[in-house]
Order: sequence, then C-alpha cells, then structure tokens
Amino acid sequence: MSTDTQLREPETSDALRTGVAGQRSPGQDVLVIDDLTVTVHNGALEAVRGVSLAVRRGEVVGLVGESGSGKTLTCRAALGILAPGCHVAEGSVSFGGQDTAEFSNKAWRAVRGSRVGAVFQDPGSYLNPSVPVGRQLAEALRSVQGCSRKQAKQRALELLRLVGLRDAESVYRQIPGELSGGMLQRVMIAIAVSGDPELLVADEATTALDVTIQAEIIELILRLRDERGLGVLFVSHDLAVISELCDRVVVFYAGEIVEAGPTEEILLRPRHPYTQAMLRVASLGDYTRRTLDVIEGQPPSVGAQLPGCRFADRCGFATEQCRTTPVAISSGGGHEVRCLRSDELSLTRLAS
Ligand SMILES: Nc1ncnc2c1ncn2[C@@H]1O[C@H](COP(=O)(O)OP(=O)(O)OP(=O)(O)O)[C@@H](O)[C@H]1O
Ligand SMILES: [Mg+2]
Repeated sequence: MSTDTQLREPETSDALRTGVAGQRSPGQDVLVIDDLTVTVHNGALEAVRGVSLAVRRGEVVGLVGESGSGKTLTCRAALGILAPGCHVAEGSVSFGGQDTAEFSNKAWRAVRGSRVGAVFQDPGSYLNPSVPVGRQLAEALRSVQGCSRKQAKQRALELLRLVGLRDAESVYRQIPGELSGGMLQRVMIAIAVSGDPELLVADEATTALDVTIQAEIIELILRLRDERGLGVLFVSHDLAVISELCDRVVVFYAGEIVEAGPTEEILLRPRHPYTQAMLRVASLGDYTRRTLDVIEGQPPSVGAQLPGCRFADRCGFATEQCRTTPVAISSGGGHEVRCLRSDELSLTRLAS
C-alpha cells in the first residue's frame, strides 16, 4: 500500500502555463449566484432561499454554517448536479457571465469537465474502485480534451505531479483501494482541475483528512489559486481551515446567508448574532456539534415560512420587530449582514 510519504513539493507544469488561465483577467467573476432559491421534495420546501454570492478569479470563498443550513445544496445548484426532487426554483447561476439556465445536459457536462471542477468529502466514492486512478484521470482528459491516449497519459502524469504525488508513474497504475485518503483527494483534485477550470467547488474536501494532510491540501489549493487564478468555493466546518484558506467568508443559517465579507472582518468583527455565537462555540470546539447545545433552541425546520428573522427564536437580542419584519441583507463596515439590529448591536459593543 502506498503512503503519503510519496507526496512531494510539486513543480509548475506546462499544463499550468497554458490554457484559459492566461486569458482571465484578475478580479473578474467566475461564478455569480443571484437570488438563488432551491426547493426540495419536488418543490414542497424551500431549503435555500435568496442566496447571492460571487467568486472572483484567484479568490477563495468559504461557506460556513451549521449542518443543514444549505451549503451543499448551494454548491450542487452551482454545479448543476442537484439530486432528484431538488430544483432551482428562483434565481440564477452564471459562469463567466453565461446563465446556466440556458445549458442543455450536454452543455453542463462540458462545463463540468472544463470550466468548473468539484471535490467532495469522500473521494473514494467518486472513483471506480477497480480501475487504476491514472487511467480514470486519462479518460477524463480524453473525454474533455479529445487528445490521444499517449497525450492523455502524459498529461495525467503531469497532473499527478502537479498535485504533489511524488511517484506519479506508480500512482498512475494503482487502484483507489491502494491509495491513502490524502492521496485519493489529490487524485480527485487532479481530475477536478484537469480541464483547467476557472472554478473549483470543494465541499468538505478536507474534512475526512488528518491535520497534516489537510494542511498539504490547503497549500495545494492556495497554489492553484495563485498560479492558475483558480476561483474556489470552499465549504468547511473547520474555522481554522477557513481562516487560513479563504479570502471571503459567507455564513449560512437555516437556508439563508446571514453575513458575508472579508475573512478577517467576519472572523474578528462578526456583526450577526448567529456568527458571533458560532465563533464563540468554535472557540470551545466543533461548532457543528455544539452550536445546538450552546445556543438555546433549534433552527426552524427546513422550508419553514417565517415572517421575520430565521434566527430570532434563538437570538438573545431579538425584539418583536425582528420576529415580524422581513430582514434584507444590508451592507456596511465591510460586511453584508442580515440583521435589523446589527448597527445598534455594534455600537453597543463598541461602547461596552
Ligand atoms: N436530496 C434532498 N432531498 C430532500 N431534502 C434535502 C436534500 N438535500 C438536502 N436536503 C435538505 O436541505 C437542507 C440543506 O441541506 P444541505 O445538504 O445543503 O446542508 P449543509 O449546510 O450542506 O449541511 P452539512 O453541513 O451537514 O453538510 C437540509 O435540511 C436537508 O435535509
Ligand atoms: Mg453539506
């Protein structure tokens, strides 16, 4: 069995220096999600509502929020891979200004192979267990780029080296069961970036990995961001990882964005009472498991229609107005925040 000792500092390959990356201009939006509502159970419940966010070239945007808050549904909607029964009911998802609502299934497949790549928590389940990983990578390259077998193998080896797999020749021949979790995740990242995408969606891609391997994957993503101008939508429950990796953070609560802004702003100067509670709990341990215990009450059930703030029942600052008045996102102080009282609460904190 191979081990992670095969990992090494990767080199910049030719695959990095060519392709669309060179034509992308800095700061341009690679993904724009506008006012997205996703329903589940065939339209019966709105599990994600009014979500707007953008990922720019060379930027890592982190999605955080407790379990069931809608992070994965948002990612899957962005990738055009919602499960049966789940639908984009309102809003839009665009890549490079192109509205994905216009994409046929064939166009989506082409986009997923080239403009956007994805990695998830369990790389093993996305790979064929009986086919050597190199062949799977080469096949992905051939189907997207239509290159010859020989070219595909050469590119696959280059990509395996790019993601830090030292002995690419032997990894190429190994089946998934012969590789460690960290190595499998690198193979998945190699597949995800094989079409030189503008965007990488990583949904809990480092969650199952031990801390050292996690740090190496973070380094790899940052390198891809810097060298290829890759935009990344990164979901994690680990706020230490988020703080290390992300340029901006978007906080979800019960299907909605409650706060968004530059990482430092969100983690050091949170303005929404939920973000503040989440960070308080994170300082005690894993917030996903503990938030429910520490913040009194429960989040509203999926799709619950509430007139006011969805966090009001658990919020120590909520007034009657919070419970009854719809709350839009407002901008200020480097944040976007969905709270009627955020200005007032910030002033109170400054004064105290
Ligand atoms: N295929 C589905 N069918 C029905 N409901 C779903 C489906 N997928 C998600 N949901 C519901 O939508 C809500 C949001 O789910 P989602 O998976 O996006 O949460 P999440 O923020 O990714 O949570 P976690 O941190 O646990 O991964 C959840 O309440 C979930 O039960
Ligand atoms: Mg999820």
